[in-house]
Amino acid sequence: MSTQLFEKIAKDYGTPLYIYFEAQINKQIAALKLAVAELPCSICYAVKANSNLNLLRHFYERGCGFDIVSEGELRRVIHACGDTSKVVFSGVGKSPSEIEFALRSKIKLINVESAQELSVIAETASNLGVKAPVAFRINPDISVDVHPYIATGMRSSKFGLPAEEALALWEGAKRDPALELIGVDCHIGSQISDVEPLKSAYSQLIEVAGEFRSRAAPIKVLDFGGGLGVSFSGHYQPLDLQKFSQMLKDLHNGLDYEIIFEPGKFLIAEAGVLLTRVVYTKQNGEHKFVIVDGGMNDLIRPSLYDAFHHVELIPGGGGTRELDTVDIVGPVCESGCYFAKRRVLPRANPGDLVAIYDSGAYGFSMASNYNSRPLPAEVLVREDGTVQLIRKRQEAQDMWREELL
Ligand SMILES: Cc1ncc(COP(=O)(O)O)c(C=O)c1O
Repeated sequence: MSTQLFEKIAKDYGTPLYIYFEAQINKQIAALKLAVAELPCSICYAVKANSNLNLLRHFYERGCGFDIVSEGELRRVIHACGDTSKVVFSGVGKSPSEIEFALRSKIKLINVESAQELSVIAETASNLGVKAPVAFRINPDISVDVHPYIATGMRSSKFGLPAEEALALWEGAKRDPALELIGVDCHIGSQISDVEPLKSAYSQLIEVAGEFRSRAAPIKVLDFGGGLGVSFSGHYQPLDLQKFSQMLKDLHNGLDYEIIFEPGKFLIAEAGVLLTRVVYTKQNGEHKFVIVDGGMNDLIRPSLYDAFHHVELIPGGGGTRELDTVDIVGPVCESGCYFAKRRVLPRANPGDLVAIYDSGAYGFSMASNYNSRPLPAEVLVREDGTVQLIRKRQEAQDMWREELL
């Protein structure tokens, strides 16, 4: 990435700051579209990965729908794009009022995760005089080799329903005129690089869809969820898209279902950089620290998931420097507030920039005001090189606007 560009953006907009690159977003959309080109497939971007309105519109203009998990996310989609026809609603804890808002908004699909949720959907749809388009989220009991917090397809996790339970639920609900079972769904985890567990989950889903069809459910949609893994600057094995594409074609051969994907990280993770500035350096015994002005409040993934992010030091004034092995840490009063540990970097000085790569997904969207630190600004670098501010830096008074004295 261009050092001068980072220096200019930091000067113009301050740090800490999220920078997104339109070219990288478009590259990922194109790569996924190519992988599924021969299939009847919709890409529903997972809004939770990065919910900036400007980016939502960007995805919409390139043909994407949306996977949402709250009324707030749905309202964002409506505000940015004004179209709810390609929205699917996931999540184990949709409240009755969120379900009502989704039904009133005429979204494409609600992924049902429990018997009680199905009852609430049926009752709400009946009260509104509409038919709710639903899919059962199936828990395929498949484990994936990722951090336990982002594995969601095992029986011990809170997500989805065992297939037998979903089938039994449908037996009890199929004559309900307020429900239309149009799909089955799964999402077994995030950052998956191996095609095999995905294949097992998708195969199970196809089998379950067949079971439902044999019981007269008008299943049209297979929602395969998200979780497609990316490389994070070469640290992880990315999903092999060619193998993935072939696997899908083999599985879908002779079938007539529409497929939905809900990718988040795949589309936006590698398009984002969190740009920070060195405040101080220090040494405790043998241990050297570079303290930057962004913290776990801006990017919590290393603290929460022990996630890897490639880090680059951009020395002010250029030139070469001696190398140091350092921890790059933030200012928050937690030992867990760090971005990287034991990295070999050019010796840092206060004022240098530190770029934390692959921060586009679950970066800003998980940011908080912890330690009363304002939320950072966000900019988008367009394909033509222009830089657009897409979120202003939060002011101190915005942090306590809803509080009462
Ligand atoms: C239901 C569902 N779909 C899609 C996603 C997006 O996952 P990823 O960003 O790994 O593609 C998630 C992530 O938590 C999810 O829970």
